Amino acid sequence: MSDLDAGKSGSFKIGGDLPVHRLGFGAMRITGSGVWGPPADHAEAIRTLKRLPELGVNFIDTANSYGPDVSEELIHEALHPYKGLVIATKAGLTRSGPNIWTPNGRPDHLKAGAKKSLRKLGVERIDLWQLHRIDPKVPRDEQFGAVKELLDEGLIRHAGLSEVSVAEIQAAAKIFTVVSVQNRYNLVDRGSEDVLDYCEKHGIGFIPWYPLAAGDLAKPGSLLDRLAKAQGVAPSQVALAWVLKRSPVMLPIPGTSKVAHLEENVAAANVTLSDADFAALDSEGKRASAA
Ligand SMILES: NC(=O)c1ccc[n+]([C@@H]2O[C@H](COP(=O)([O-])OP(=O)(O)OC[C@H]3O[C@@H](n4cnc5c(N)ncnc54)[C@H](OP(=O)(O)O)[C@@H]3O)[C@@H](O)[C@H]2O)c1
Repeated sequence: MSDLDAGKSGSFKIGGDLPVHRLGFGAMRITGSGVWGPPADHAEAIRTLKRLPELGVNFIDTANSYGPDVSEELIHEALHPYKGLVIATKAGLTRSGPNIWTPNGRPDHLKAGAKKSLRKLGVERIDLWQLHRIDPKVPRDEQFGAVKELLDEGLIRHAGLSEVSVAEIQAAAKIFTVVSVQNRYNLVDRGSEDVLDYCEKHGIGFIPWYPLAAGDLAKPGSLLDRLAKAQGVAPSQVALAWVLKRSPVMLPIPGTSKVAHLEENVAAANVTLSDADFAALDSEGKRASAA
């Protein structure tokens, strides 16, 4: 293994049959400001994506709403035909401008979104397709039914959810097999502990988005900062090492538009936290999350 290798983060089998290295990549940040339009630096976005397989990152998360379409198009441009890569995408949010996200969970809209992602990514089947949000205006079982149809038609191999409660996972699981859950989670943002515990118990991949929002703990003098300095690494790497150690089903997808930040994030797979350091960070993070 080279020094920079996401393989050092360990492996997880999505849906029991799709092995990925646990430290993945979120492709939301390769679009324009406000996750809208093309990136400011197209060449750097492409370089960042092309660097992923070289660094052993083989799990890439995107969505049809990132850009919209721009993230999927860039992934296609840089990485098609994706040898050895698992590309996960989502639908269920519509866009009308920068930073504006509106759920649309009408079954026809979800199915059309998945079909468009197939074309944008240039694949016959999407490895992991996630319902980006459960739309409160549409009966949830109708949305879950659309996911089941996509699975039954073979257009998607596996299906997951995003920003859901345990009760919602259980409701969805009555209609289709839920293989992943993507909720906001990091050291100081612990609102989804119960969902993570449920996922771990049931072998469901837990994809924490916003994994780098280390907040106050990254400031000089904090516990994260002290540990980072002691190990000679960046605070963001300690934050990633902490989520990776938190659970074997954890699949963090730190997002960046820059090769240098990508390399720094992948180096987090080299950081080992002792049980004592893990526990100290855990309680400090819980306190910050509750504050
Ligand atoms: N399911 C959902 O609802 C949902 C919502 C949001 C995001 N997501 C997914 O989760 C992924 C990650 O979430 P996120 O992008 O919001 O949060 P994140 O990964 O915690 O943070 C990304 C931000 O941190 C910066 N960054 C990355 N690496 C860095 C480093 N080593 N040093 C300094 N800054 C660094 C990036 O800027 P630079 O580009 O300048 O590096 C970017 O602004 C997204 O890409 C997307 O795939 C899902």
